[in-house]
Amino acid sequence: MSDLSLKIEKIAQETSNVKSFLLKSNDGAALPEFTAGAHIDVMVTGEDGTTDKRSYSLASDPKDTSAYTLGILREVEGKGGSAFMHDKLSEGDVIEASNPKNHFPLDNDAEDNLLIAGGIGVTPILAMARTLSANGAKFNMHYAARAPEEMAFKTDVEAVCGENGHLYFDGGDPSKGINLKELLSNRQGGLHLFVCGPGGLIEAVRTTATEQGWPENTVHYEVFKPAELDGEDSEMEVILSESGKTYTIPAGETILDVLLEEGVDIDYDCKMGICGLCAVKVVDGEPDHRDYVLTEGEREDEKLFCPCISRAKGGSITLES
Ligand code: FES
Repeated sequence: MSDLSLKIEKIAQETSNVKSFLLKSNDGAALPEFTAGAHIDVMVTGEDGTTDKRSYSLASDPKDTSAYTLGILREVEGKGGSAFMHDKLSEGDVIEASNPKNHFPLDNDAEDNLLIAGGIGVTPILAMARTLSANGAKFNMHYAARAPEEMAFKTDVEAVCGENGHLYFDGGDPSKGINLKELLSNRQGGLHLFVCGPGGLIEAVRTTATEQGWPENTVHYEVFKPAELDGEDSEMEVILSESGKTYTIPAGETILDVLLEEGVDIDYDCKMGICGLCAVKVVDGEPDHRDYVLTEGEREDEKLFCPCISRAKGGSITLES
């Protein structure tokens, strides 16, 4: 059962493919508090009538418990969650959702904050800017989109950030957007970096930060959508060491989904490789890690592996479960 019944108070077309949803509690009560960077899991219904959950970050002011705001990109090649939100819902409808959870919080140790957003990755970053601004904390926000009319929440970002907001319009060519090399050079002590957006942006930011000597614990990131299953992937086998059972994982499915369908009890949340809840130990085989959460130490020394997104090199892997 879901934690929250949320009534859609208002839907606004932010850009040609992004809608914002203003949600209030269906019974008029205050909503649970949340912290900047949090998301809720919304129950969506697919074309075939099956239900599933999708995680959407909260873009609204964390101090405001009267309503939540989501910003949702309609993904042409998505699995149907965003199409449901865009095409099937109207103002006045009630949706079911989880309480807010936060896998991407601000860091109390930060003396200064560098916020970077690409596309719809703006949603948690905007909530962070709201909190930092309200607290009088030091921050700068850099936000890239194709064009002004394709920049969701542009007015909010300008109002919240003022001169600390830096907007980029790259026409779809990242090389014309944020100059990461310049932005991430000469890190001053106490500065933390928070980035959310497409996988390519996050990878570029992480790589550049590493090259520029940023300590790992000062670089915080969240992907706004799961990595695509690679069309090149092939079928593989997963063996669970405790039961000794073998499962076949088709090319287009994740290990986690197959194990859940088969009734294996395994913890999970994001299904995107960002929360770490599904992590299990590798007993044998060579992992192809694709998560965004495990550290090198967790992968190499503790042999952890996220079955919601990672695969096996060599066609077979044995997991402790
Ligand atoms: S379910 Fe979140 S990392 Fe796998």
